[in-house]
This record gives sequence, structure tokens and C-alpha cells, in this order.
Amino acid sequence: MISKIKKILKKKNKSKIICLTSYSKNIAEAIDPYADIILVGDSLGSVLYNYSTTRKVTLNQMIEHSKSARLGIKNSLMVVDMPYKTYSNKRIALKNAKRIMKETKCDAVKIEGGSSIIKIVEHLIKNKIPLMGHLGILPQTVRGKFKFKGKKIKERNQIFKDAKLLQDKGVFSIVLECVETTLAKQITKSLEIPTIGIGSSQNCDGQVLVIDDLIGLNETKTKFVKKFGRIKNNISQAVRNFKKEVLSKKYPTKKYSYN
Ligand code: KIV
Repeated sequence: MISKIKKILKKKNKSKIICLTSYSKNIAEAIDPYADIILVGDSLGSVLYNYSTTRKVTLNQMIEHSKSARLGIKNSLMVVDMPYKTYSNKRIALKNAKRIMKETKCDAVKIEGGSSIIKIVEHLIKNKIPLMGHLGILPQTVRGKFKFKGKKIKERNQIFKDAKLLQDKGVFSIVLECVETTLAKQITKSLEIPTIGIGSSQNCDGQVLVIDDLIGLNETKTKFVKKFGRIKNNISQAVRNFKKEVLSKKYPTKKYSYN
């Protein structure tokens, strides 16, 4: 597990890091040969369950989806998001992080925030929980519309300081979500650990996208999402073909029956 993290760290300034989400075995299996990191993100709340916020995602949901994803992951580093309120103090955070690590057999967990949660970060790392940070837009905190971060100087300074602080405390990588281009560059250049961007420009050490968005399974108009596939159309086409053959009694033939 530690060597997988070392592999990620070594990619800094050499080769871009590929990170994708997965909430289940079959998707994880398809991604695993190409990804460095597979994240079981709490974005599953909006993507799979249509929740208005990731705050509604429970620890049990994260654990069950992670157990499924684990079955499809052989090579990538597996990271699991700690959902809202599961790291509200040091004791709760450690108890829940240990539970996630034990039950899902993941390699690391991710939590959102900087200086406001730094005591928790410190405590988890002191207790040997491999940790990924998350700065910029923090979906567990944000209310109302998602706006990019780093427009105002005060906000820029805070995010920069937080990134340094997280690194100093020992996180192995930081997700930068919707961070303004030049700020993402400044952070990435200043840190020794890799940054993984989502909506944060080319200036990060790696990129992450929600897999359902990337393959065109989830409908989204988010600016930074590029659809690399149209899987929903493929599914509909396959189902149309199935229906046609069942209605016309072409399927199942003898080949698909037990005699
Ligand atoms: O929940 C999630 O999927 C995430 C990524 C989008 C970074 O945190």
C-alpha cells in the first residue's frame, strides 16, 4: 500500500497522474488498467442517488460501494471519501477512518478542507491513516451554486496556505476542485506532493473526473466535464435490440437454451 503511494509521489514532474471515480466492481475493473488512483467519491450521492448535496451520503453507503469497487481494483491506489460528519472530531474521524480502511481494504481516505480540519488531519496521519486532501470547492461545505475558487486575493492566499499546511502535516496528495488556473499552477509548483485537478486547468500534476460524466452515463452540463464517450446511447441501443428480438421471438434461440 505504501509502495503504491510512493509510485504516485514519484510521478510528480514526470508524468501526469490519472485518477477516476468508481462506485462499483465492473466500472472499477474497466478503469483499473489505465488509472493510477481510483476514488470512491461521495459524488455517488448526486450521481447515483440524485441527492441535492453530498451531505446526505452515509458511511454505510460509502463502505458498501467501496467493497464493490475493491473487487475490480488490482493495480490502482484505492482512495475512499469520508462522508460528511464522519470526521467532525479527532476521535470520530479516527474510528471511522479505521473502519473504512478495514472493511473496504482501501489504501487511503480523503477528507475535505484545510486549516479548519488540520487537527483532524494531524491526528489521522499520526495514527498511520494514509490521507488525501481536498481544497478549492468543498462539496460537503458549499451552499448554493458552485463557483470556482481563487478569484479574490484573500481566498487565493487561504487556499495556498491550506495546501502548504496539508503537505506539512503529511497528506500524500491534494485534490484541487475548481481552482483558478494561475493559483493551481502556483500551488502545484510550490508543493512536493502531487495535486490532482478537477476543473483546475492543466496546471495540476494529475486529473480526476467522475467516470459517469466522462463516459456520458450521467447527464451534466458542468463546464469542466468533457464527454469522452456516449455510453448511455450504447445501453439504449443494446436494450432496443434485445426488445426487438424478444418481441419477434428471435431471442432466445436454441443456442441460448438448455436442451
Ligand atoms: O466525490 C468525488 O467524486 C470527488 C472527486 C470529484 C474529486 O471528490
